[in-house]
Amino acid sequence: MENPAPTATAATAEAPRPKVSITFLNNASMVVAAPDNSNILRVSLREKGGIPFKCGGGLCGTCKCTIESGREHTDAVKAKEKKLLTPEQLAAGMRLACQTFVSGGDISVSW
Ligand code: FES
Repeated sequence: MENPAPTATAATAEAPRPKVSITFLNNASMVVAAPDNSNILRVSLREKGGIPFKCGGGLCGTCKCTIESGREHTDAVKAKEKKLLTPEQLAAGMRLACQTFVSGGDISVSW
């Protein structure tokens, strides 16, 4: 016997595109919506979030920031970040904005 065709069309028909929101705490707690898997520095540049930067490539450390909430929605720490941030800073939630992507939920960031 064949199984009947799946009937899971209702859930997919109205599923919104995934979005995350980033709160820029040092910028009057401005909240910005961005596509899932967004780079924090790119969103900051596009939306005038205000996170300082120079190289954009994980080399200078200017974009050091702290993920104050939603750390579980950031991707894994990169080798470049381990060069510029101490284990204590990483444990405290510090990241390089240019190297950090947000997906699966919202974050707030300070710098
Ligand atoms: S802007 Fe230079 S390390 Fe991020």
